[in-house]
Amino acid sequence: MTDQKSLDSILQERRVFPPGPEFTVRARIKPADRERLVAEARAGHEAFWGRIARETLGWHKPFTITLDQASAPNYRWFTDGEINASWNCLDANLRERGDKTAIIFESEPGETRRLSYRELTAEVCRLANALKASGIAAGDRIVIYMPMVPEAIIAMLACARIGAVHSVVFGGFSTRSLRDRIEDAGARLVITADGGHRAGRLVELKATADEALAGACPSVEKVIVLRHTGCAVDMKPGRDVWWSDAVAGQAASCAPVFVPSEHPLFLLYTSGSTGRPKGIQHATAGFLLGAKLTTLWAFDLREDDVFWCTADIGWVTGHTYVAYGPLAAGATVVIYEGAPVHPDPGRFWSICERHGVTIFYTAPTAIRALMKYGEAIPAKYDLSKIRLLGSVGEPINPEAWIWYQRNIGKERCPVVDTWWQTETGATLIAPLPGAVAAKPGSCTLPLPGIDAAVVDDDGNEINDPNRGGHLVIRKPWPFMLRTIWGDNERYLATYWARFGNRYYLAGDTAHRDRDGYFWVMGRADDVLKVSGHRLGTAEVESAFVAHPRVAEAAVVGRPHDIKGEAICAYVVMKGERPTGAAAEAMAHELREWVGREIGAIAKPDDIRFADNLPKTRSGKIMRRLLRAVARGEEITQDVSTLENPAILDQLRGQA
Ligand code: WT7
Repeated sequence: MTDQKSLDSILQERRVFPPGPEFTVRARIKPADRERLVAEARAGHEAFWGRIARETLGWHKPFTITLDQASAPNYRWFTDGEINASWNCLDANLRERGDKTAIIFESEPGETRRLSYRELTAEVCRLANALKASGIAAGDRIVIYMPMVPEAIIAMLACARIGAVHSVVFGGFSTRSLRDRIEDAGARLVITADGGHRAGRLVELKATADEALAGACPSVEKVIVLRHTGCAVDMKPGRDVWWSDAVAGQAASCAPVFVPSEHPLFLLYTSGSTGRPKGIQHATAGFLLGAKLTTLWAFDLREDDVFWCTADIGWVTGHTYVAYGPLAAGATVVIYEGAPVHPDPGRFWSICERHGVTIFYTAPTAIRALMKYGEAIPAKYDLSKIRLLGSVGEPINPEAWIWYQRNIGKERCPVVDTWWQTETGATLIAPLPGAVAAKPGSCTLPLPGIDAAVVDDDGNEINDPNRGGHLVIRKPWPFMLRTIWGDNERYLATYWARFGNRYYLAGDTAHRDRDGYFWVMGRADDVLKVSGHRLGTAEVESAFVAHPRVAEAAVVGRPHDIKGEAICAYVVMKGERPTGAAAEAMAHELREWVGREIGAIAKPDDIRFADNLPKTRSGKIMRRLLRAVARGEEITQDVSTLENPAILDQLRGQA
C-alpha cells in the first residue's frame, strides 16, 4: 500500500525531540496529566467525554445523555443538552475579556484592522438580525463564499447565533463547484463579497457567484455582498443587497437561539472517490467541544497567545482553528487575506513579527515552498515571540520538519504535527507539546479519548512497524461527522461498511513504529492532496469530460517536491490525437477549462494525450499503471489483462 521509498525513510528516522524545559514546567498537559487522562478515558470512554464536555463548554441546558448509540454508526452525543456555538465564542468571553483583541486582520494590500470580543459580538449580532429580517430561521442553509476577511467569521458566527447552518465554499473554487454546493445544500441565502485579493490579483467572487446562480440554484432568495476590494459588480435588484445596507439600523445585540446539541452547525463539502463532493455535516455541541478542547490541548493555548493558523476559512482547518476553536478559548487570532509570498517570500514572517504571533500553524506545502527561498529570508525577521509550531494537511517530510523547527522555531519550539480530517472535526492524533516527544514526520500518539489503530484488510490490529495498514478509529468521538448531507447511505458506505460498522475508516494508510507512534503515509483511495487541498480524481475527470472536445480522461497523482502531489491527466480527445504545437495549445486550453470549472487548485500539472486509456478487458481503467507511468516508474505489474497493451508505449513516449 505504501511505496517503499517513504517506508524506508520512516523506518530510518531516529531523531526524537522531547518537550523542552519551558513546556514541561508550564504546559497545560504535563506527562502525568496525560497519563491520567488516557487512563480515565480507558476506564470509561463515555464518562470521560461527558466530564470533559461539561467542563469545557458553556451549556444553556446541561445534558444527561452522553452518548446515544441507538442508530449506530450514526452516533449522537449530549443529545438532551442545549447550546449555542456563538454564545460560547462571544458572550462567554465578554465579562473576562470583552476588550481583548479577538481578531487581528491584515489584507493582502496591507490594511490592518483589529476587533475586540465586544466589537466582534456587536458585528455578529447585527448580521444575525439582518438574516432574521430576511426570514432566515434555524435549520436554513446559508452559503458563505468570501475572501479571508473578518466578515467571513462574522458570517459564520451570525449563522450559528440563530441556528442557521452555514456551508462555507472556499473562495478559490469557481462556478461549477460553487453551484453544485449551493444546490446540494438547498441554500436560501448566499453571503459573498465583491472580490478578494490573491497574489496581487483580484478574485472576482461576486461575478463567479452570479455565474453560478444564473439559471440555477432556485433555492437562493437573497445574496448579501460585502464591499471589500471596491471592484465593480452587478447587483441584481430584488436579490442582491450590500452587507452595509443589510446591517444598517440593525441592533447590536441578538439573543442566541439555543439549539439541541445535535443541531447541525455547518456543512462543509469535501472530495471523495466519486465525482460528487460530500457535504460533511457536523453537530453543534460535539464539534465545538473538539475545536475548543484540542486548541487548548494541542497548542497549549494561554491567555496572552497570539494564534495564527494560516488556513482559509473555506477548509475545515479554518473552521476549527481560525474560527470556533481559538474564539471559544478566548484567544487573539490573526487572519491574513493573501498569498504567503506576496509581495515577497518574507510576508508570513513579517506578519509574525509585526503582530507578535506566538503560535504558528500551517501546512507542509507552505513550509516546503518557503524553504525553497532559503533560510536567509526568515532570519531577517524577529520570530522570538513564536513558542509553538504546528503542521497540518498532509504528511510532513522530515527534511521540512527539521527546517521548520530550526529556522522558524529556532530549536526551542515544539513542532506539533496534527493528523485529522474534515470528517473528524478536530485533531485526533498529535503530540501534546508538554507531554509527548516528537519525531519528525510522525503525528505521534492519539489524544486522550481517541482510540486510533492500524489494521489489516481483515480488521486485525497491526503493530509491526514494517507493515502498513488502514488507519481506523475504533470508538466514536464527540466531534466526528454525523452524516453526509442528504445521503446517509453514502456515510455508511464510505466510513463504516469496510469493517462491518465497527471502525471508522479514515481512508489513509499508516504505520506504527516500535513506540506505537503513528506515521500516516497518505490516502488509500482516489483522493489527492495537492498543496494540502483535497481533490477527487473523479471530480477532475468529470471537469475534463465536460469539455465538448474531450472523450475520456483519467487523472492520477504523482509526488511533487512542494505540493506533495501533482495532478497528472491522461486525455482522449474526440477525433484525432493532437501532437506538437496543437497538443500544447490544447493542453493549455484544458488547464484553463478545469481551472474555470473547479478552481485554480485543480489545474493539472501534466496533461498527456492518448488514443485511448489502458483498460482491462472488462473496461476498467488501470489506474495503478497510469500512476506508474506518471511517476516514470518501471512497470512491474502484469499487463497481460490489458485490452490494448500497445497504449503503454504511447503514454510513456510522451513522458
Ligand atoms: C486528509 C484530510 C486535517 C485538516 C485539513 C485537511 C491528510 C491531514 C495530516 C497529517 C499526514 C495528513 C490525510 C487526511 N492529512 N493531516 N498531519 N499527516 N496526513 O483535511 O482536507 O479533510 O484532508 O489529509 O490524508 O485523510 P482534509
